[in-house]
Amino acid sequence: MPGFEFIGDEERRELQQVIDSGVLMRYGFDAARNGQWKCRELEQQLAGRFGVRHAHVCSSGTAALATALSACGVGAGDAVIVPPFTFVADLETVLLAGAVPVFAEIDQTLCLDPRSVEQAITSKTKAVLAVHMCGAMAQIDALAEICRRHQLTLIEDAAQAAGATFHGRMVGTFGKAGCLSFDYVKTITCGEGGAVVTDDDEIYRLAQAYTDHGHDHLGADRGADQHPHIGVNFRLSELHAAVGVAQLARLDRILETQRRHKAVLKEGLAGVRRLEFRAVPDPAGDSATFLSFLLPTEDEARHATKALGAAGVDGCFYWYDNNWHYHRKWDHIKTFASPGRLAIDRFGYGSDLTKIALPQSDAVMSRTISMLIKLRWTEQQVSDRLARMKSALA
Ligand SMILES: Cc1ncc(COP(=O)(O)O)c(C=O)c1O
Repeated sequence: MPGFEFIGDEERRELQQVIDSGVLMRYGFDAARNGQWKCRELEQQLAGRFGVRHAHVCSSGTAALATALSACGVGAGDAVIVPPFTFVADLETVLLAGAVPVFAEIDQTLCLDPRSVEQAITSKTKAVLAVHMCGAMAQIDALAEICRRHQLTLIEDAAQAAGATFHGRMVGTFGKAGCLSFDYVKTITCGEGGAVVTDDDEIYRLAQAYTDHGHDHLGADRGADQHPHIGVNFRLSELHAAVGVAQLARLDRILETQRRHKAVLKEGLAGVRRLEFRAVPDPAGDSATFLSFLLPTEDEARHATKALGAAGVDGCFYWYDNNWHYHRKWDHIKTFASPGRLAIDRFGYGSDLTKIALPQSDAVMSRTISMLIKLRWTEQQVSDRLARMKSALA
């Protein structure tokens, strides 16, 4: 994703302010910092942009997931429903929380199929981790409704969908907590970084403590803070936050550019025989980071991926074979490979996860290609690309 395509004077200016203050840490050093509180500034702006009461920044999207799981009370032995098309971080953080990942199928939205989620619920289920993949949204209203009915916690991973909305509401704000990533290849970047967004005061209180060794952050003297809970160090530095402040200010322009490029490509490809687009529950809210389309068969999708590459159409991903994003290559996750024993070894999984069958997800992902939408394309480059795509897919 394209955050890194625009890094310039604004980022430099924000960073310089932090360097000039000499305070690189988000907490303390009040007198020395010359009024610079970049993490706080980024949090205020994120909360405003997302329309939530709280945003808490942390060191990565993975840290945001671990923090959200902890703050939502997900722990040893709890089952968490996850999609098989996501990034390994979702599985890693569930396992490291001591919880048990349970796969439900995805559908043509490339996100969790609400019907399959409902079927996967058992008495052990504590949470549903809905991941908004490739710039667009899951059927988040249906997932929220299922969670409400079954009294489950909905956590959203919006790492790949910063700025996407569902019927006007920011993706990441439908559940108890939403997680964002600002790593180098996300829509906006801090180099590394992440955030938890929430409307829930208690989730916020727990999240901000968890990312700083459990500090309650109630007084002005950090050394005198109480530690009601265990935490870790997932703090974001002021340097990273400074870059984030500049990047967040670019978000609307990024979205507008992606949407414009994607609309041209989508319109141009609409007539290509045997090609259909990924289902997007609210097309107007698509952040348009990717153009995802499906061919009728796996063979045709494999052939099309090769043909696009040969035609010089770069940035096309065939996720079905991907090491990070699709369950087929996750043997280390499925065998719970870890230098030390994980909690799941203690609770047991009950079945051999390496043998799990997800035929509906395979049927979708084996036919799907996603193409990255870049910001710096000129109109001419977009139309050249369209022409090359059409001839490669013909
Ligand atoms: C869907 C999803 N969730 C979580 C993450 C983790 O984010 P980070 O790299 O900031 O830890 C990523 C990163 O690629 C992602 O794509």
